Amino acid sequence: MPTRRTTLAGLAAAALTVPLSASGRALAASTAPGSSAAPDAAAASGRAGAGGTLVIGHRGAAGHRPEHTLASYELAARMGADFMEPDLVPTRDGVLVCRHEPEIGGTTDVAGRPEFAARRTTKVLDGVPVTGWFTEDFTLAELKTLRAVERLPQIRQHNTLYNGRYEVPTFEELLELRFRLSRELGRELGVYPETKHPTYFAAAGLPLEERLLAVLQRTGLNYPNAPVFVQSFEVANLQQLRQLGLRTASVQLLSAAGAPYDTVARGSGPTYADLATPEGLRGIAEYADGIGPDKLQIIPRNADGTLGTPTALVADAHQAGLVLHPYTFRAENNFLPVDYRVGTLPTDYGRAIDEQLTYLRAGVDGLFTDQADIGVVARAELAAS
Ligand code: G3P
Ligand code: CA
Repeated sequence: MPTRRTTLAGLAAAALTVPLSASGRALAASTAPGSSAAPDAAAASGRAGAGGTLVIGHRGAAGHRPEHTLASYELAARMGADFMEPDLVPTRDGVLVCRHEPEIGGTTDVAGRPEFAARRTTKVLDGVPVTGWFTEDFTLAELKTLRAVERLPQIRQHNTLYNGRYEVPTFEELLELRFRLSRELGRELGVYPETKHPTYFAAAGLPLEERLLAVLQRTGLNYPNAPVFVQSFEVANLQQLRQLGLRTASVQLLSAAGAPYDTVARGSGPTYADLATPEGLRGIAEYADGIGPDKLQIIPRNADGTLGTPTALVADAHQAGLVLHPYTFRAENNFLPVDYRVGTLPTDYGRAIDEQLTYLRAGVDGLFTDQADIGVVARAELAAS
């Protein structure tokens, strides 16, 4: 019997034949047999690389454009990413928008907008006080007056070139982009939405789950083998999504330390270390299709900062029938193991292709990367080796 993992290896290819929404129906028409725009399942499967390895454009192409903008997602797709990854948070009027966090002081120009100065506040987010401006305090119309800025200007000065040029996109706008680019590029692009801080937003009266499901339903993407992975660092909301009717693949995100915030808030439940044990992984396989671990849970670093020896996590997850999509691969020296750095400047690129190759050879099924172009090269080198 095929496991979830072997089924998911063909996800990108299978999805090509099952578009349902208004936009999906248009895609079906445009990709009917004989159509010049028809994506080819075998080609898509091949594009996904040896073993169906996925390149996931983390926050789009965050290494090249301000994160979570349509320009960032589009560039990732054009660079060859299979999936575009949005983090999702709600507005005051309940619209899901693409931001890494509810606090938007570091990723938009809100701090320079006098009309919103009074919205600056302090909230407790997953137990931690955070000061700034929060998406749930803005209507979509208000949020749309803001413009994105680069989160890491000290490291990605080049990206500041684009400060002030792009809106905060809604999830539905990303799905429209996905549809348009899938047709243009002749391959079905995927989306990999993350529900951010589910416990926090449920307490704020803006639960994410029904809203996400409604968008997936409305756009015809809620079906098995859709080009969608839903991800969360919390456990209960992934389980709840299944109960509410989520039919796409889902991924339990893990962390190298701590515990899912829903279990912290409840006062009982597994830590991330518990979830990463063979028993914990078997439990995840009851409601999810894969795990998204910190890459250090797969190959930790030695005390001197060099890359260490792989753990058993890949084998254990595969044994449980789960795919592994670790995060986050970034090309700058600042983020690389000491032995993969080139030169001394934290902003210079190091041997990022080699780092990704090392993880691909360890058996991961895909990777989240800020530089989709590097993921594509690493995957091709793996396939050629
Ligand atoms: O969702 C995978 C990865 O993005 C998790 O980390 O904090 O970048 O959302 P974060
Ligand atoms: Ca994420």
